[in-house]
Amino acid sequence: MTRLVVVTGGTRGIGAAIAARFTEAGDTVLAPGRRECDVTDEAAVRAYFAGVGPVDVLVNNAGVSSSAPTAKTTLDDWRSQFSVNATGAFLCTREVLAGMRERDRGRIVTVASTAGHAGYRYTAGYTASKHAAVGLMRAVSAEVAGTGVTANAVCPAFVRTDMTADSIARIHERTGRDEAAAEAALAASSPLGRLLEPREVAFAVAFLAADEAAAINGQTLVLDGGGIQK
Ligand SMILES: NC(=O)c1ccc[n+]([C@@H]2O[C@H](COP(=O)([O-])OP(=O)(O)OC[C@H]3O[C@@H](n4cnc5c(N)ncnc54)[C@H](OP(=O)(O)O)[C@@H]3O)[C@@H](O)[C@H]2O)c1
Repeated sequence: MTRLVVVTGGTRGIGAAIAARFTEAGDTVLAPGRRECDVTDEAAVRAYFAGVGPVDVLVNNAGVSSSAPTAKTTLDDWRSQFSVNATGAFLCTREVLAGMRERDRGRIVTVASTAGHAGYRYTAGYTASKHAAVGLMRAVSAEVAGTGVTANAVCPAFVRTDMTADSIARIHERTGRDEAAAEAALAASSPLGRLLEPREVAFAVAFLAADEAAAINGQTLVLDGGGIQK
């Protein structure tokens, strides 16, 4: 049966890989970027979901990151990461939840991060917002427990996307390390010892969204080669 899948932040990077995977499986996929559905804008999110029909799979993928020592993190920076990474996932989840409950069928998967499980230096806003996104999935999973709806999160380490390219550029700028050394430092931050490819995250999302994953609810799937064991 063809499903309607919405992947927020689906224009590039991990979101585009997730959209491609569902499309290849024969699903109908919508992959809005910020222009089509700004997940921080309550009215825009409401209007977007009102126009798309019954959603079978919601992937909360839209995300932003920045980095600074906590003592130098501005309130704007903190808020902007929370707005997209946590509040954005909440607003989109809220729009699809009632319909999924009525139809007794649905999958919600949030692309969190290893930073949804552990604290990393210079990422207070990102880490706290990803913990919040994981907390949101856990709360929703408790509400839908025993129904045909599930809510889970995937928690990848560094993935080869624009977001990671920006992190590499920042390391280069701040430390003078060349880009290869900066990438190696990010790769070494998990036992995987390399960057993930977006398609590996897409695989994990597709797994949690499968009909056969009906018993998996309120879980986090960590993709880091075995560093965080949950
Ligand atoms: N890259 C990593 O190492 C990594 C690791 C773990 C988790 N993640 C998470 O994975 C997700 C995707 O990351 P990525 O690396 O693919 O990032 P990316 O290449 O920077 O792409 C980010 C995507 O999010 C969208 N977006 C940003 N703000 C938005 C908003 N307000 N409303 C709607 N869409 C918005 C962007 O849309 P536009 O193109 O319209 O701007 C874009 O499609 C994020 O949640 C990120 O935190 C990434």
